Amino acid sequence: MSDPLLRARDLTKRFTARGPLGSKAEFTAVDQVGFDVELGETLAVVGESGSGKSTTARLVAKLMEPSGGTLEFEGEDITHAKGPALARYRGKVQVVFQDPFSSLNPRHTVERILTAPLVYQGIAPRGSRREHAKELMERVGLNPDHSLRYPAQFSGGQAQRIGIARALAVGPKLVICDEAVSALDVSVQAQVIELLRRLQRESGFSYIFIAHDLAVVRQIAQRVAVMSKGRIVEQGPCEQVFTAPRDPYTQTLLAAIPRIDPEWDRRRREHVTKEKG
Ligand SMILES: Nc1ncnc2c1ncn2[C@@H]1O[C@H](COP(=O)(O)OP(=O)(O)OP(=O)(O)O)[C@@H](O)[C@H]1O
Ligand SMILES: [Mg+2]
Repeated sequence: MSDPLLRARDLTKRFTARGPLGSKAEFTAVDQVGFDVELGETLAVVGESGSGKSTTARLVAKLMEPSGGTLEFEGEDITHAKGPALARYRGKVQVVFQDPFSSLNPRHTVERILTAPLVYQGIAPRGSRREHAKELMERVGLNPDHSLRYPAQFSGGQAQRIGIARALAVGPKLVICDEAVSALDVSVQAQVIELLRRLQRESGFSYIFIAHDLAVVRQIAQRVAVMSKGRIVEQGPCEQVFTAPRDPYTQTLLAAIPRIDPEWDRRRREHVTKEKG
């Protein structure tokens, strides 16, 4: 058996909350979470607000130190990686956040935004920086003639494409999308999902795709992990988890989503009937 791209085991994050009269209370936001991500696949992470999805993403991206557990990347323990090892890891794992405008520097041109990751990684682009930025813009469906514009001059969907292009700049193996399409209008959302799928087909990297919309998850992910109160309560292939959820929380989550896919809904109900009968 070869190593998965990413292996998380017992990943835990505790926060200390300060209460009245200087009292302190420990709060476990991520509680012994474990999952694998294989190269080229998409693992979705779903769950209610506050269930620990973004904290898990931050731990995996190493934007935050875990309180416990381990992280391995390509077979290497990177749980407490620092210095050059951490810099190398940052070149392989990138994050796309929900709000493109707050994650893009408003005073930098798109060209500067898209070349900054290369400068940080000490990578020399093949052509000039300008060519590199234009190439990235083309890959994500933006007009390369707009490389000297500022983020505010783009629409929400276009700005998110800049965020995606920035993530791709260093040639990552894992891209973490934390609600990356959640704030977009439905039609724009569909286009950005299509873009994410195409980029994955072209480059073969993996996604950890955090979303609360299960219909979106079904369009992009092969496997899904369901989080509740800091724990993964169920994980497996989307087909299995969505049509035959074993965990009561997953069942509630599925019952709450609008029925936009009749075929899926029919299979799901068939299964529930079978279970009962
Ligand atoms: N830096 C922090 N300090 C203290 N508590 C935090 C911190 N970051 C997150 N939390 C808490 O940890 C819990 C999990 O938060 P997290 O942002 O991971 O949830 P989420 O699943 O991403 O939610 P949402 O769907 O709303 O984005 C929440 O109760 C949150 O308030
Ligand atoms: Mg979140």
